[in-house]
Amino acid sequence: MSNVLLPLGSSIGILGGGQLGRMIAMSCIELGYKSFVYCPQGDNPAVEVSSQHIIGDWNNNLLLNKFISSVDAVTIEFENIPIEVIQKVEQKLLVYPNSKVLRTSQYRPYEKKYAKLSGIDVPRWWLVNSKNDLEFAMNELDGKGILKTSSFGYDGKGQLKITKKDTPDKIWEIIKGKEFILEEFVNFNSEISFLICRRKNKEFCMFPPTENKHKDGILNKSIAPADLSEETWLSGAAKVSKLAEDLDLNGLLAVEFFLLENGKLLFNEMAPRPHNSFHWTMDGLSCSQFNQLVRCITGVPFGDISISSSWEMINLLSENFSDLTKYYSEKNKIYLYNKNGIKTKRKLGHINRLIN
Ligand SMILES: Nc1ncnc2c1ncn2[C@@H]1O[C@H](COP(=O)(O)OP(=O)(O)O)[C@@H](O)[C@H]1O
Ligand SMILES: [Mg+2]
Repeated sequence: MSNVLLPLGSSIGILGGGQLGRMIAMSCIELGYKSFVYCPQGDNPAVEVSSQHIIGDWNNNLLLNKFISSVDAVTIEFENIPIEVIQKVEQKLLVYPNSKVLRTSQYRPYEKKYAKLSGIDVPRWWLVNSKNDLEFAMNELDGKGILKTSSFGYDGKGQLKITKKDTPDKIWEIIKGKEFILEEFVNFNSEISFLICRRKNKEFCMFPPTENKHKDGILNKSIAPADLSEETWLSGAAKVSKLAEDLDLNGLLAVEFFLLENGKLLFNEMAPRPHNSFHWTMDGLSCSQFNQLVRCITGVPFGDISISSSWEMINLLSENFSDLTKYYSEKNKIYLYNKNGIKTKRKLGHINRLIN
């Protein structure tokens, strides 16, 4: 294995301790590597399956330095890690993804501008920093829209739907104090995600696209492969590989699109990490998204990701966790994250199921 960058047994640092980190750490073990999780105090399901961990704040330089000196490369499992942390790690080690990619995806205005620059269509949107901005944007919008916080939004959090009946005065009272974007409401046919894995040497692989069904802004179910015409499939894949190229991506990049009636794809958002909508890859492909990421980081050849059957993934949230008893007795693969389920809409696990 002369092209392997990191020898077997090397340690992969993972920033963040959530379920994505848990599944990355498990893939490190599968491939003969060690994992080292760094995360702040909280419910951290990655910790119990990692080789080593440090619980520390993002601004604890002493602990961060200890982490940096103990690992051979670093990845993230959570987008909102302060960019300064990534820049600090980057001085010593390769980070997957690099700080440029992460900075772009942390801030909705940047990711939309970047997607547009890369030649991808995005919904109409306006930056809202003041009541004047809001009045102007609502006037231009002239219909339904969605306000989204510029940063830190996930699982539909930090979003507010607005209609023609709403007044800027009323809405401003609700949102003032934070920066938002107002986005036109898209009457899409379906939601589709693409996932690419790309190495620094430009070698890349594209996972089969997935169709996603959301409930209250949070992913409920994914079906793969998405039922797309060949033209839409190829055009989506071309858009995502161009975006990855432009960003000089190293690691994974998931891109969420709205599919319109006319077959066109409209950019929604991107995430440079494993994505919930590709958890089915753990059973549906020879090589899961987590396994491929570890291969990418370590320099091991990419695994095969051709698809031969259809799969669905269902999220187990705090709300539908009691369905678990039913899933046990059916032909499902069950993955539980061992998380505390008291908070609402928490992702506690998922199931993968062969459709045909
Ligand atoms: N402009 C829009 N028009 C219609 N639905 C939208 C729009 N933006 C978001 N949504 C719905 O809300 C979900 C969550 O929004 P998204 O922008 O992906 O935020 P998050 O970061 O929370 O995932 C989307 O998957 C989609 O179902
Ligand atoms: Mg989303």
